[in-house]
Amino acid sequence: MLKDLGVKPYVFPMPVLMIATYNDNGTVDVMNMAWGGLCAENVIALNLDEEHMTSKNIVKRQAFTVSIADIKHLEEADFFGIASANTMPDKFERSGLRAKQSSRVDAPIIEDFPLTLECKVIDIQHHPVTGFRVMGEIVNVLAEEHILDEQGTVDPVKLNGFIFDQFKGGYYAIGKRVGKAWESGNKIMRK
Ligand SMILES: Cc1cc2nc3c(=O)[nH]c(=O)nc-3n(C[C@H](O)[C@H](O)[C@H](O)COP(=O)(O)O)c2cc1C
Repeated sequence: MLKDLGVKPYVFPMPVLMIATYNDNGTVDVMNMAWGGLCAENVIALNLDEEHMTSKNIVKRQAFTVSIADIKHLEEADFFGIASANTMPDKFERSGLRAKQSSRVDAPIIEDFPLTLECKVIDIQHHPVTGFRVMGEIVNVLAEEHILDEQGTVDPVKLNGFIFDQFKGGYYAIGKRVGKAWESGNKIMRK
């Protein structure tokens, strides 16, 4: 029996994305973001509260990086979603993580995260319904060697990322592979 739940932002899973930017004084800020995703091969959308320090930094620097947090850094990743650099100037320093300057965009790379997208802002939107949104062009991707398979492709098991559950606020490890895209449906195609 299906029950009406009303209007809810219920998409599953949600990503755990780490958005890194530079503050005015050159220190690093990182925030946790679930409400974002790909719009094209080289375009990512960030749905942000405009008051976050991250949003202000992005407007000023026109750049950011997006990292995929791994389970090893789950506590730091969650901390980046609780603390704000608006009220905690040493937010990043407290995390104990390391950062270096991207050579391509005016944003930091968090060295402890295994996969990072370097992005340049291509559009900033203010929509009456969806609010503040940043569209970024992915100009490069950096991956730790240990998350790559023999072909040089990112192996999701080695990446060891985790997902966010919008229903109850849980973080979940990724389970075993249960199918193959563009193949698992073939049996029905051939009926
Ligand atoms: C799991 C999780 C997901 C979040 N997703 C978003 C999001 O999609 N958009 C957003 O604006 N804030 C999101 N936040 C809240 C920000 O990460 C948080 O307000 C943070 O303190 C902002 O930091 P800043 O002010 O240093 O940029 C999320 C927080 C958590 C814990």
